[in-house]
Amino acid sequence: MQPSLLDTIDLRENTRLRAEELRRLLEHHNRLYYVLDTPAISDAEYDTLFRELQSLEEHYPELVTPDSPTQRVGGAPLDKFTQITHRLPMLSLENATNEDEIREFDLRVKKLLGLQSDYPMAYVCEPKMDGLAVELVYEEGQLAVASTRGDGLTGEDVTTNIRTIRSLPLRLVGSDVPRLLEVRGEVFLSLRAFQQINSEKEEVGESPFANPRNAAAGSLRQLDPRVTAQRPLSVFCYAPGVSEGVEFESQQQFFAHIAVWGLPVNPLVRRIEGIEAAVAYYREMQEQRESLPYEIDGTVIKVDSFALQRELGEKSRSPRWAVACKFPPRQALTLVEAIIPSVGRTGVITPVAQLRPVEISGVTVSRATLHNWDEIAAKDIRVGDTVVVERAGDVIPAVVKVLLEQRLPEAQPSQPPERCPECGSEVVRIADEVAVRCMGLACPPQIRESITHFAARNAMDIEGLGDKFVEQLLSLGLVHSVADLYQLTKNDFMQFERMGDKLAANLLAAIENSKKKELGRFIFALGIRHVGERTAKALAQSFGSLENLEKADFEELTSIRDIGATVAQSIRTFFDNQENIAVIRRMLEAGVTPAVEQKKVGGRFTGMSFVFTGALTRFTRDEARLLVEKEGGTAVGSVSRKTAYVVAGEDAGSKLAKARELGVTVLSEEEFLELLAQE
Ligand code: IVH
Repeated sequence: MQPSLLDTIDLRENTRLRAEELRRLLEHHNRLYYVLDTPAISDAEYDTLFRELQSLEEHYPELVTPDSPTQRVGGAPLDKFTQITHRLPMLSLENATNEDEIREFDLRVKKLLGLQSDYPMAYVCEPKMDGLAVELVYEEGQLAVASTRGDGLTGEDVTTNIRTIRSLPLRLVGSDVPRLLEVRGEVFLSLRAFQQINSEKEEVGESPFANPRNAAAGSLRQLDPRVTAQRPLSVFCYAPGVSEGVEFESQQQFFAHIAVWGLPVNPLVRRIEGIEAAVAYYREMQEQRESLPYEIDGTVIKVDSFALQRELGEKSRSPRWAVACKFPPRQALTLVEAIIPSVGRTGVITPVAQLRPVEISGVTVSRATLHNWDEIAAKDIRVGDTVVVERAGDVIPAVVKVLLEQRLPEAQPSQPPERCPECGSEVVRIADEVAVRCMGLACPPQIRESITHFAARNAMDIEGLGDKFVEQLLSLGLVHSVADLYQLTKNDFMQFERMGDKLAANLLAAIENSKKKELGRFIFALGIRHVGERTAKALAQSFGSLENLEKADFEELTSIRDIGATVAQSIRTFFDNQENIAVIRRMLEAGVTPAVEQKKVGGRFTGMSFVFTGALTRFTRDEARLLVEKEGGTAVGSVSRKTAYVVAGEDAGSKLAKARELGVTVLSEEEFLELLAQE
């Protein structure tokens, strides 16, 4: 028998070892990045390793292990979640709502333990995370099952979704891991992730989540794990369940152990002595609350010693050894003075409530987002109404409800505008969307927002070019689209109010610098609907150049992982629009050359792109890509003048024709193998 191709190039022998090494490396870098916050390699380097492992596993499915980092991404959608019964019920906590109630808890504890009322009890104080409780079961060090709290006795099996949490080890770190370890913790979304998810939702005309907790719950209880994988959930572990092969003596010691095994523990947890220190911690956290990157709704105080915890025992639903110290809600009553339609980058018109200014936990609130007119109708919010306003993780607060008993008889329901309040263009409501959109191409706020987006730190990163300067560029008539940015001169900037030589030079330098940003950033900066940072990066990696992306058809786009029909359609619509193409051309002519994230260099196919088409019989498409990439080349989806070779199997169609038309060398499968075999 003829030896298989992969045998001849000696891949198989090393593949298993390489896969193992990649898994170890990736989990190590995951931990550095997500848990220790000290990344040692760039995102692009991480992605390269990840893709290498993915390729290996795609080709050799027998190499896939349940703890492989690739298995975090999620499998097929579920019909429903399976029920899981917790070995130990998941209790809830009794609340204290002020400092006196915290002191009462301390007195209760000491009375039950027969201690003097002035005894300085040792407690562990923790932030009370505003998310949802989960139980994680590690068997022989491997994450085996994860479930929601449910009713405390039975929850839902959310293992596949929990696996997507990058800060959570799929395998405990170290050699002394217990046979069985159950830990409880809180799954939550950072404020940044929450805002990102909501702005994406608004962009596609969906109703946003009311707060980070709802968003976390919605993401965790997603039947399609691929959706969850797009939502960067986090978790902090805070309590043990059943364990075998390890005994914890105290809450403090529990934290120390699980942290060593790689489980995420909130760095703000603190062991203290005496209840006044716990009260001080409660005050401190209330102050820190505003600057934390996630929502907390109080603190939790736990008796540190597990022996004393056992002695204190439990009531039916909550332990006697812990208390949740809740913060006052961040709500206030105020008046809706007006409902103002505001136009965003994509033309979506969002109603914003102008409020009589009111202070909520130290911040003066004068605006609240109402999201869309369906939401206004559902909550029946009218101008002149007295409303409850809440700051819930969003920069802009939300209206919780209307006090109907205080409504004035003349208050009228609000209707979406028929014309754009900014440019007077027609407003349409797209089927299936709750949003209304301005269709005007030259709508000023759309242009303003698209330029601000283009210059943003996570896009082209043009330092200094924020809202204010963009506003001035527009009002001076200096820019009409992002392409105009690259035509600006120092004199243009000098027309600004309070502009100095140095600042103008810096702005120009920042614009100049942006010409060489990575392709992924550039694609993101274009502001294509549905194309977020992550998708843009994936597109950059798959297509390797703007030119290839521009030409990619619907099938090629949807063949990329995580790109569905809606996104693919939106990309096509963007590139089919001649105005967009003209803007891109002008940028390229001005010297914008988005840098392509380099793959392996030095291989014999470096810089060459291959297109595989038709029915392949000697190897699979993935195998082919692997072989090409191994030699530093790229396998792409569409044929252009720059394509080095088109490898055509049977029944090759339009791509083969295109290759002939452009004069690109066409190889049969056999010829490709010969090419590979050449020295
Ligand atoms: S300990 C028996 N610690 O608060 C002890 N809970 O109101 C169980 N929570 O269901 C809970 N942060 O979802 C504990 N640091 C923390 C917490 C915390 C948030 C949640 C948890 C629990 C609820 C109880």
